[in-house]
Amino acid sequence: MKSSIVLSISLATLAGVATGLVATAEAQSLPKPTRLERFTPHKPPANEGPAGYFYIEGITKPVQIKVGTSEAKTGFDNLTNGFAAQGPDFNTLNADNVVPMRSFNDGRFLFEEVETFTDGLGPTYNAQGCRECHENVATGGASQVSEHRTGHLSGDQFFEAPGGSLVESRATNPEIVERVLDEDTVRTFRISTNVLGEGYVESVADSTLTAIAAAQPADMRGAAVMVAVLEGDGTPRVGRFGWKDQHGSLVSFAADAYLNEVGITSSLLPEENTSSGRFVGFGSGFDPVPDPEPDGEDLFAFANFMRSTKAPARGPISSDAFYGEKKFNDVGCAICHVSSITTASPGTVVDGGTFTVPNALGNKVIHPYSDFLLHDIGTGDGIPILPTPEFAFTAPLIRTAPLWGLRTRNRLMHDGLSFTKTEAIARHAGQAADVTSRFDALPDLQKNQILAFLDSL
Ligand code: HEC
Ligand code: HEC
Repeated sequence: MKSSIVLSISLATLAGVATGLVATAEAQSLPKPTRLERFTPHKPPANEGPAGYFYIEGITKPVQIKVGTSEAKTGFDNLTNGFAAQGPDFNTLNADNVVPMRSFNDGRFLFEEVETFTDGLGPTYNAQGCRECHENVATGGASQVSEHRTGHLSGDQFFEAPGGSLVESRATNPEIVERVLDEDTVRTFRISTNVLGEGYVESVADSTLTAIAAAQPADMRGAAVMVAVLEGDGTPRVGRFGWKDQHGSLVSFAADAYLNEVGITSSLLPEENTSSGRFVGFGSGFDPVPDPEPDGEDLFAFANFMRSTKAPARGPISSDAFYGEKKFNDVGCAICHVSSITTASPGTVVDGGTFTVPNALGNKVIHPYSDFLLHDIGTGDGIPILPTPEFAFTAPLIRTAPLWGLRTRNRLMHDGLSFTKTEAIARHAGQAADVTSRFDALPDLQKNQILAFLDSL
């Protein structure tokens, strides 16, 4: 067993790629084997085609838009990027889809919907619907809502709090509200992230993310972690969603969020959450709706809604903001906060055979200011993607926070505990330590230009 741990870590450091392919005896003796099984990749990754273009100052060549590529749509305007039709019809044929799918407005309505006890809400939950945590400026934006995760270490092995590291903050009955145990001393807040423009991120080929890792200097290299695609044929993908890159597909994230944030089970995740390990599902008297709960199938509409959102739009670019980006590049911020990435070509099959990159999302240039890879900048929350030896190396790692839409957020970093941009930058240690000291050494004028640039995102 030890050798496979070492293998994962050395792959992560040497090639920027790590996999959790081996199901282990330890994994099987941990609680909730079905969940662990579902979330553990079992097959080799698929070929998603050649790496797309990306730009890192000093490492790659500046933008040469290849024939057939165009800028991704941006805006905080609750309008479609073209993947789903705007509406008002419930089911519309999309230019890219021969299969009818819900319109953007219908998908948005479901994403905004408030779930109730009789819909299957809870019994333990964090909020009554996706919009409660993903709305700011437009539906799908990031928000101030934080959730907490806890667990403890025994030797090097992380153990989740009973029933899972996510401690739901609400319940439908006072007897079953989850509480944090004193012994669960590994604790973190995780703040709600943005989902606008995530269809473009899903459409980035695995090979592009691993090429970014390979281009980064060895001591700053990010890890591309292979994670399971719940709806797929068993083929894993490079994780890119969530603070830990815990998912590679939007259907998977929607299934996970519907269960773990709202308490709605689905065909992909049919077992109800416990209350700190105690069964509170259908039949316990706490939950009137049998599993999988019928509303659970809305997760496919959530995914198509998110795929249809425009990416966060830039604000006005002053001359300070313009020069600030040059300084941001010069000191090395852009090595992790990558400014430009192109998505895979339309027709590329991803997500374990379940999603074909449509014209609306393929060959698009996005400006996420993230490499979507995991880094150790000394802020890691100590909680691995899964409580198995293969994923143990992810405990101190956090995904490079995408800086698009930064001006809409006033609680920063994964825990939302940095109040200003300067404080957030000051927390960058570990793999970002050299860059942070170059930033610190700049004259105030240039620091302020970088801050002006950040305010334009
Ligand atoms: C209680 C608040 C809350 C609710 C309700 C909620 N989310 Fe989230 N969401 C979060 C937080 C917090 C994160 C980051 C979590 C993490 O990475 O650990 C997140 C992350 C995401 C991401 C990943 C985005 C990225 O940064 O890559 C997606 C996709 C997402 N949520 C979709 C949904 C959907 C769909 C729903 C409704 C079923 C939903 N969420 C409901 C809080 C919430
Ligand atoms: C080695 C990779 C790396 C480098 C270099 C880097 N960052 Fe980051 N940055 C991250 C990671 C990872 C996070 C998320 C950390 C967390 O939440 O704990 C982050 C978060 C941030 C945030 C908070 C964003 C939010 O939404 O909460 C800001 C602002 C930021 N970085 C700016 C900068 C600036 C400015 C520089 C250059 C001076 C820089 N970063 C250099 C990896 C990096």
